[in-house]
Amino acid sequence: MTTSVIIPAAGSGTRLGEDRPKAFVDVGGVSILSRTVASVLAADCLDLDRIIVVVPDHLIDPVTDDLRIAPCEVVVVPGGAERTDSVRAGAEHVTGEFVLVHDAARPFTPPAVFDRVVAALRAGHPVVVPGLPVVDTLKRVDEHGRIGATVDRSVLRAIQTPQGFHADALVTAYGNTVSAPDSAVGANTTDDAALAERAGLPVYLVDGDPDAFKITTPWDLRLARAMAQGWD
Ligand code: CTP
Ligand code: MG
Repeated sequence: MTTSVIIPAAGSGTRLGEDRPKAFVDVGGVSILSRTVASVLAADCLDLDRIIVVVPDHLIDPVTDDLRIAPCEVVVVPGGAERTDSVRAGAEHVTGEFVLVHDAARPFTPPAVFDRVVAALRAGHPVVVPGLPVVDTLKRVDEHGRIGATVDRSVLRAIQTPQGFHADALVTAYGNTVSAPDSAVGANTTDDAALAERAGLPVYLVDGDPDAFKITTPWDLRLARAMAQGWD
């Protein structure tokens, strides 16, 4: 089954607070995006059709140039204001039976996570997400910082990417947002499976991996740079 991989890389990285969009921040001499593209190419399980990289408008030319030597077709397209808009822009260029949506900000995602997602897609699950048990105690808190209740973490998972879709499931998920962009269904979400859930599709969980963490904060960037130096 051939696969397209959408890599949304058009975010600004507000929480990271660097001087450039997050995907273009240097980790050990290479941009975060370059590392993520390399990790996708290293995932042997993928019968890769094309990689669709979604970037800020002004970076289309340099990214296209950087990725011209990739061993598969690469399409570089401009993103939108919200992550959902960026993925939707990438989804217009999808080919093949399966689609993976994978954050540019997860450069150390191991091949085994790709393997598990693709194996579950091949087994017939239309939507697949990797996730990890939550390790910290979780509590509800009100706007004044008062603790309301402790949440049962045993039924919760921290969800990562790549998130896998049968191509028609991605159309169903994102089709709802195209037809109703201003409705609750079309509201921005932090992952793609949420749109599938709202469209009534079953979402299947596989094991994630701590190394698939998302670089979000300055601490995450320090961790990533340490990992790039061989610390792991
Ligand atoms: N993303 C995107 N388009 C957007 C927003 C996010 O393509 N409009 C991408 C980011 O580049 C990132 C992934 O979605 O690879 C996950 O988003 P997040 O970690 O929130 O990144 P940013 O939005 O860049 O960070 P922040 O929310 O701190 O500004
Ligand atoms: Mg964001």
